[in-house]
Amino acid sequence: MIRLGVNIDHVATLRQARRTDYPSLLEAAALCEKAGAHGITIHLREDRRHIQDADVYALRETLSTRMNLEMANNPDIVRIALEVKPEEVCMVPERRQELTTEGGLDVVGQRDALVPVVEALSEAGIAVSLFIDPDAQQVEAASAIGAPTIELHTGAYAEHTGTERKKELARLTDAAQRAHALGLVVNAGHGLTLDNVDPILAIPHLNTLNIGHSIVCRALFVGIEQATREMLEKLQQRQ
Ligand code: PXP
Repeated sequence: MIRLGVNIDHVATLRQARRTDYPSLLEAAALCEKAGAHGITIHLREDRRHIQDADVYALRETLSTRMNLEMANNPDIVRIALEVKPEEVCMVPERRQELTTEGGLDVVGQRDALVPVVEALSEAGIAVSLFIDPDAQQVEAASAIGAPTIELHTGAYAEHTGTERKKELARLTDAAQRAHALGLVVNAGHGLTLDNVDPILAIPHLNTLNIGHSIVCRALFVGIEQATREMLEKLQQRQ
């Protein structure tokens, strides 16, 4: 089945809104894992708007599944990743003013800056994933610089409707096929919800979907364990 990584950034968003010590990220992660999530995703942003350094270290001690650490190519954060050694690092682009990660990484344009980081993380035993738009050139560049995994940005798919959405789905499918042919592991994520995820499940070769905002929002009404279970049930429908 397609695996689910639950992104718990927005549990930290709630906590940081008041700078309280609740809700507990560790409890949230444990409940997602109890529900059957295959991994926990967190994004340590340069502006530390939600996840804090201490969260990364604390989760490292308590997670029973995999940690997928999303991060920009920033030396301080790379240093933390090398110390914490999450199972996976997903390199993402970051702009301070954005509400969320708005576009994929430009692997073609940033090749020289990415190569040493991908190498250093890989040497530390961390599986490196590059968050890219579903674009053939970016897929090929990711493979060329030796990243074992890509995560396809589904944000444009999620934002569009009708014909435009169908076009995005076709782009995602092409990119997944191309990546698989190059031997890459294919993940996807961004903007996925219980209502829009079905067509995504038809994309071939998908390993993991990383889903956060919609699960945390649903958790307000049913709890995070149930919200995770509902998404897992959706993903299981493909098989
Ligand atoms: N994958 C990546 C690389 C992301 O940056 C994010 C958002 O942090 C997600 C997945 C999850 O997106 P959403 O919160 O919209 O489900």
